[in-house]
Amino acid sequence: MIVEGKAVNSCLILTAQVAGAKVNTIESLADGEKLDPLQESFIEEGAVQCGFCTPGMIMSAKALLDNKPNPSREEIKVCLSGNLCRCTGYSKIIQAVEKVALRPPEKLREREG
Ligand code: FES
Repeated sequence: MIVEGKAVNSCLILTAQVAGAKVNTIESLADGEKLDPLQESFIEEGAVQCGFCTPGMIMSAKALLDNKPNPSREEIKVCLSGNLCRCTGYSKIIQAVEKVALRPPEKLREREG
């Protein structure tokens, strides 16, 4: 999840620690049926299999892209490094994040608008 703009491990945070803070979870990304570009990219790139790691991966990537829209591949790897995936291997996940990072901003706005 993202707390005040920073990705955190939700399993290590007590509710009292986030009282009054702005908290975003994977459930806050989609707008009804309209998925966030990261969610779509994970599906398109085959970065989701069992889905167990997907919320953490996407929220970590979301925090990164919100703070740095065009990160390097290395920065993406560092950002995702606290999340473990037993299914896909990491290349598809990194590819999915890179795909969103490399999109021109106007393409992202089109999707949001
Ligand atoms: S998709 Fe299964 S653990 Fe990552």
